[in-house]
This record gives sequence, C-alpha cells and structure tokens, in this order.
Amino acid sequence: MDVIYHEKSKQFHLCNEKISYIIGIMQNGEPGQLYFGKRVHDREDYSYLINHEIRAMVVGDSSDESFSLEMNKREYPSFGTSDYRLPAFELLYDNGSHVSDLRFVSHSIRRGKPSLEALPAVYTENEDEAATLELLLRDELTGIEMILSYTIMRDHPVIARNVRFVNKGKEEVSIERCMSLSLDLPDHDYVWMQFSGAWGREKTPVEKKLDSGITAIGSLRGHSSANQNPFVILKRPDTDESRGEAIGAALVYSGNFLTQAEVDTYGATRLMTGIHPERFSWRLKKDESFQTPEALLVWTEDGLNDLSQNLHRLYRKRLSRGAWKEKERPVLLNNWEATLMDFTEESVLKIAEKGKEAGVELFVLDDGWFGKRNDDFAGLGDWYVNTDKLPHGIRGLADKIHGMGMMFGLWFEPEMVNADSDLYRAHPDWILAAPGRERSLGRHQMVLDMSKDEVQDYLYERMHAIISEARIDYVKWDMNRTISECYSLGREAAEQGKTYHRFILAVYRLYERLIADFPELLFESCASGGSRLDAGMLYYAPQAWGSDDTDAVERLKIQYGTSYGYPISSVGAHVSECPNMQTGRISSIATRGNVSFFGTGGYELDLNKLGDDEFEQVKEQIVFLKKYRGLIQSGNFYRLLSPFKDNYCAWMVVSEDKSEAVFAYYRILEEVNPGHRRVRLQGLDPDRLYRTRDEAYYGSELMNIGVEISAVPGKKDAPDGDFFSRIMVFES
Ligand code: DGJ
Repeated sequence: MDVIYHEKSKQFHLCNEKISYIIGIMQNGEPGQLYFGKRVHDREDYSYLINHEIRAMVVGDSSDESFSLEMNKREYPSFGTSDYRLPAFELLYDNGSHVSDLRFVSHSIRRGKPSLEALPAVYTENEDEAATLELLLRDELTGIEMILSYTIMRDHPVIARNVRFVNKGKEEVSIERCMSLSLDLPDHDYVWMQFSGAWGREKTPVEKKLDSGITAIGSLRGHSSANQNPFVILKRPDTDESRGEAIGAALVYSGNFLTQAEVDTYGATRLMTGIHPERFSWRLKKDESFQTPEALLVWTEDGLNDLSQNLHRLYRKRLSRGAWKEKERPVLLNNWEATLMDFTEESVLKIAEKGKEAGVELFVLDDGWFGKRNDDFAGLGDWYVNTDKLPHGIRGLADKIHGMGMMFGLWFEPEMVNADSDLYRAHPDWILAAPGRERSLGRHQMVLDMSKDEVQDYLYERMHAIISEARIDYVKWDMNRTISECYSLGREAAEQGKTYHRFILAVYRLYERLIADFPELLFESCASGGSRLDAGMLYYAPQAWGSDDTDAVERLKIQYGTSYGYPISSVGAHVSECPNMQTGRISSIATRGNVSFFGTGGYELDLNKLGDDEFEQVKEQIVFLKKYRGLIQSGNFYRLLSPFKDNYCAWMVVSEDKSEAVFAYYRILEEVNPGHRRVRLQGLDPDRLYRTRDEAYYGSELMNIGVEISAVPGKKDAPDGDFFSRIMVFES
C-alpha cells in the first residue's frame, strides 16, 4: 500500500495489492480523476487520460479552449464554469455569486488515517495499515480553502474520502452543498443497485441500468431511513454474486443524505454521496471550518459476495469499536413482543427465568419502564422508573437478573418526547418546531432539539444515572419517528440550515459521552427496526435491530438485502411468537431459529408459552448458537439463492481459514413432486474433506456438484410443509 507522488506530472497514485486510485493536477490547477479500479502499474505520467478536444458547443478554459472541464473527469467538481453536470460542492458568497475556483496549493502524505472530529470514520490500529493523501486547494479570490482527504487501506480494497472547508477569507460564506465524495467514471456500463423499502420491509435490492440522466436516492427524514440506505453498488451488467466488477459507495453518516449517479452527454458517470443539500446551508465565518462526513469506495472484480465481504470485514474490524466489536454477541431475550408495555417486575422475571433455563445470556427490558408509559401516548422524555410496574426500581430488577447469571439490558428512546410528559410540560421549547405553526406528530411523539446543550445534558445525566446505578450491560437506543418542522427554536435565521446536521452530530456526541463512561456497554441501535442501520451508526453501536418485522419468511428477504452492505454481526434478529405479530403467519420454531442464527441471534417471546417440545428445541438452538455464532458472526457470508427471485433462499458462512462452514437453505412454500435442485456452495477449500453429520465431501464436490435441496419424494413420510428450512454444518 502506498501513495506515490510524481512531482513532474503532479500526479498521485494511491495503490494497494488490489486497487489503484490516480489523481492528477490538471492545467486549470484543480485535481482531476484519472483512474479508479484494479491495480495498474505505476508510471510517471498518465496525462494521456486528460482530454483535449475541441467539440462544438463545449465551453473551454479562457487560455486554452481545448481544455474543458465538461470533457474531463474531476475529483471534486464545482458548478458555474465549463462543466454542466451537478457539482460536488457549492459555495454562496455574500455578493450572490456561486462561482468558485479552488486550485491546488500543496499536498501532504502521511502514514495512518486521521480521525474526523465529531464524526464516525474508519480507523487504523497502527500507522502501517493505511496511507493518507491530503490535497490543499485555495480560492485566491475569496480565501476559501478546501482539504480533500483520501485514505487507502492496506488490507481492504477501500478508499476513504472526506472534505474539510476552511474560511481563510475576510467574509462569511455559505456552504450550500458539500458531498463527501465525487467519482467521475469514464463510462456508464453499470447497473445501479440501491437498497430501498419502508418500515417492516427494509433493504430490498432494486436494480436500474444507468442511462443518460440522473439516478438518485436520498433521505430527508432526519435519519438515514428504511426507505433508502446510504449505500449503493455500481456493477457491470454481467456481474453476479460470484463474478465480475463492482464498486460500492457507502456514506458513514446517519442523517439526511443524497447518493446519485449522473450519466452525461458523453456517456461518463459522475457518482457522488454526501449530506443531502436540500435544507442544508452552513454559514462559515472567518477562520471557521466545516468537516464533511466520510464516504467509502470499495472495489471488486470477484462479484457481489466479495464486495460485501470486504465491507463486512472493514466494518467489523475498523469501523465498529469497543469491547464488543468482534466479540461473540450474547444470546438475548427481549420482552417487547411478549408483553408490549403491559408488564410488572413479577411478569418480566418469569419470562427472564424461563430464558435463563433455556440458556439465554442477556435479558432486555424494552419500552414501558419509565414515566407514565402505559401506551405510546405518554411518558417519553421522563427517564425515571415507573415504580407501579417496577417497585424495586431498575436496580432492583437488574440485580435479580444479574443474580440469575444473566446480563441486563434496557431500552431508551432519548431523542423523543411525548406531549404528555413532565419533560415537555417543563420545557415546551426543547422540541424541533417551526415558530407559530402546528407541529406534526409521529407515533404521538415529538422530536427533541438534540443540538441544544441543555437537552443533551439532561439526556446524558438521566442515561448515565440509570446505566451506572443499575449496572446495565446493554442499551437498545430506539428512534421511532422521522423529523419534521426541523427548526431550532431560539437560534437566528441564518443558523437554521444547520439544524438537521447538528441533530445527528448531537446524537453522535451523546453516544460518545456514554461510550467514554461505559466502555463495556453493548449498544444496539434501532429506529423502528432498520431505519438507522447505516455505516455511521456502526461506529457507536456494533449492532442494530434489523426490522420490526420479525416474521421468519419476511426476515429472509430483509436479512438477505441487508447483507449486501452490512455484516451479520450487525443485524439484530430474533425468534418471535407465532402467529407472527406482523403477518399472522405460523412457521416452525426450527425455521424461526434457522433465520435468526444469521444475525445476532436471540428471542422475543414468552418462552413459558411454548410446549415442551418447542422449548426443548429452543434449548438446542441456543446450544447451537453458542457453538457456531463465532463462525457465523465473523466468517465470510455468501448469498447463494435469493428469496427475491426464488421459492428458495440459501446462504452460508465460511470461516476465514476455510476449516468450517455453516450452510442454510429455506424453502418458502412446499412443492409437490418438484424438479431436482442442487445448490453449489462457495468459499470452501476445494482440497479439504468436510464432514457433515453423516457424510464427508471434498470442498470441490460441494462447490461444483452442490448439495441437494429439493424435496425427494419417497424419502420422507409426510410433506415438510411450507416454510421449511435446514442447516448443515461442514467441519474439516
Ligand atoms: C420500535 C422497536 O423497533 C421495537 O423493537 C420496540 O423497541 C418498540 N419500538 C418499542 O416502542
């Protein structure tokens, strides 16, 4: 891994074993994007990649009309001169001009990767793991400076980028748009993949062939959202799960975002991702600076499974932090679907005791333990225990759970308040609200203005007090509505364009303060399920509740879709009650377990209500989970059959050293007299002999001949029925 600087040509070559990223300072003084992709040989000069062609109607440079920005690939494009594509940034000066001209001044190359102030970012554990190039650009007319930062990782085919603006001029300037990355690609022979959905159906892969014009996704909801996710893939049309070239772009951010690809008149593609420019406006006073979030580019020529695995590895090892980042996640039992808010200390202890008997390691008390929280109309904001339900306090309950030998976890929704709460009665001005206007409600609640220090301090004090007093081991941090009327009461008009970004910065800050105080605490982020499952959150909470849809069949799609961008260890997945609360569907406890294993694993039901046979199965599942979760949560995950395309879903995880694998397949509806189906496994060592329960096969057999998954008439006494599943372990 290296950053090579060619002084004569003013070109920079960032490379590791797999990828090259080449930047050249162009004749107008701005950095041009010369190449990104598979590693190429280094050379002194790649200027042949800079375009000099005079074409009709193309606007060129004042001193050399053969050089047009529109015809070239740019690193961080502006708008307003000779390029008509959408820009990466836009600055509004006090005289009303939007035209900027930032030119290269100097560069620095250093080992390692600097952290970003107040923002999540990939990190290194020692300096040899990465190299960072910083390009300093300056606008001589206005004094605005910009630092474009690029890190190449040694062990990952990844480039991390961010931008910092510094106002070294005399006047204020307003940043109206500031993407975290912009990447101009020479062609558009790509299929764009986004991960879309809604509450309860998160991260459905949607594919579109790029063509002339703009393809874009984003969120203006105040969180990254279940509707779109700040992660996209551009893959070649013939790329599939196991073959072909693809680029992934992820924004390490949890607020409003925009990700777009613009295909121009000449067939080039401009990919960018960053804070959504709508409702964003950041006044920068003299000597102030603004830091964009980080964005990541990942590249592969080995298909989408490889792309995902690279991101999974990076997120597990160098984005998630703290005691739990690579630790096996505890088998959890959450009371939410079992009791909703209708519980007492006695009733939750009964559920917990049964969990203990089954082998559960962490009991989590969900919503309803505080204030007058008996339904979702009241109580949010009042983070004081409800002693009608819990007469001995959280401490009393936690002590009993700890006494049983389990960890204890608690639910919070810090960012919200109900009108019916003591907090709102005391501080009606602590919410986000447009002056003089009605405020919209979501789940009967309002959003706190997290950017106010007094709000943040109140939440910090309350959470800190409860966590320390009850010695809490795990926090589920929920967020159950999107932001509306995003106005910070009491701040001047010119500051309002900062409110969305300030909100998420404040959420990050609150996490950071609690992490500093309680380094052993396991955080699970949640936003009505997967509405804030993004790379930014993984920096604070190594796992996130995947979806409020706990139906095993639905979860196949949600977990399959989520796996494109996020590791198995980051996806909360529980066995819940049947008929399922969201779908009314009845599936076997075996299939529910076989789905939840491919997440953090856990339960969300009253185990006392199970029959003896089902309870015995739960005990066996937990034994299985404890034995194989290390492999499942840290191995290489392969998608084999997509539930979006087939009556079957299949996936597997292979340990890094290829000595073990867990393979699972799921048949959604029973088939009568079906055709024969085999699925070929992936990622194994072809020369190794792998044992299953009653046979042994070479990796080459499993990967080329495959495993039979269709029903075989005559081999069984009765049909398996719908929602059948099977897990096979291969050990060598
Ligand atoms: C939404 C979460 O996704 C659920 O798991 C549960 O915690 C509820 N909120 C509680 O209100």
